[in-house]
Amino acid sequence: MKYVRMPIEIESPEQMGYSTIKNNLSESSYTDTIFKDLNLNMNELVICYGDHVGHPGLRKEILKGEASNLTIEDVLVTAGAAPALFMVSTSLLEAGDELVVAKPNYATNIETPKAIGASIKYLPMTFENKYQVDIEALKKLITPKTKLVSLTCPHNPTGTMISETDLKEIIKIVEASNANLLFDETYRDMSFKFKLPIAASLSERVISVSSLSKTYGLPGIRIGWLITQNKKLQELFLAAKEQIFICGSVVDEEIAYRYLVNRNDYFPAIKKDMLEKFEIVKSWMGTQKYFDWIEPSGGVVCFPRIKPELKVDTAKFYEKLLAEYKTYVGPGHWFEESDRSFRLGFGWPSQQELKDGLKGLEAALKDSLL
Ligand SMILES: Cc1ncc(COP(=O)(O)O)c(C=O)c1O
Repeated sequence: MKYVRMPIEIESPEQMGYSTIKNNLSESSYTDTIFKDLNLNMNELVICYGDHVGHPGLRKEILKGEASNLTIEDVLVTAGAAPALFMVSTSLLEAGDELVVAKPNYATNIETPKAIGASIKYLPMTFENKYQVDIEALKKLITPKTKLVSLTCPHNPTGTMISETDLKEIIKIVEASNANLLFDETYRDMSFKFKLPIAASLSERVISVSSLSKTYGLPGIRIGWLITQNKKLQELFLAAKEQIFICGSVVDEEIAYRYLVNRNDYFPAIKKDMLEKFEIVKSWMGTQKYFDWIEPSGGVVCFPRIKPELKVDTAKFYEKLLAEYKTYVGPGHWFEESDRSFRLGFGWPSQQELKDGLKGLEAALKDSLL
């Protein structure tokens, strides 16, 4: 493995220091939860090694309310979605192995296969194609040697979604090949137009990955999971987990379990706020004249771009945005894209910070026109 630090992590607000940022529009999750608000008394918890697969009650809660054939045996709890993605890639890919991965994407989905030395074929998702998965292009990229197809939905950084019909067609294509489908559905609970079934429930060849970080604002407890109906693969992923972690943190798993048991106390307010924030961005998009976008269908991020006809000093734009307007977004290079596009996270800041940040974007752009 050849590890290289990713710009999205080096330049992340928690690494840069929050003190310089007032309007943080760079995050990809909902506002962080305060522990006190969960009203948890965990004094009796035994700090032991936990169940290697993960807290059985938590696995049950993860599947609660899902109309699917999945059982808790299909769920492996991981320390966030990122380790689940890592475990899938390192278990299924070796140097030189082929995979097809959508680009842009959440950086780990690309960087881990790179670190392994896999042979990556990118499936481009473009503004012109409304950041949709191009199924015909995907078909052409899959060969008998393809080991893995890797997609993210709702998509990071654009918030676009694959329809259920398309997902089923993609699964058929994958089933006709020698590959498995890694489906990163970390933002699934935040889908606001339609919600897909858990992709792993549709085929033994699909591995779903998700977490509590984004929708519920709980990234600090590091709880995610992967789901597969394929028992052999599940055994392989458990072996990977045991070699890296042995088991998860019993403290994190207990918090996650209790949170999910009571999710109806928290989630309606989160959803309402998230939709209001989405409307703030949507109406701003309609009134300003510098940026265009593909409207997202889920998640808390979108990927606007500076209108192509505008001549702009992009370095100055980001500098001014932070130095003068105290506003931070995720520039395109976090996703190996042009800095004329940027990820705008609308779920994390307060509604006022979001409005101020959007004003800042307009002002910084105006200052940077050539
Ligand atoms: C699409 C996607 N997958 C996975 C992750 C990793 O999340 P975590 O490890 O906090 O669950 C992220 C975080 O930004 C993400 O955006």
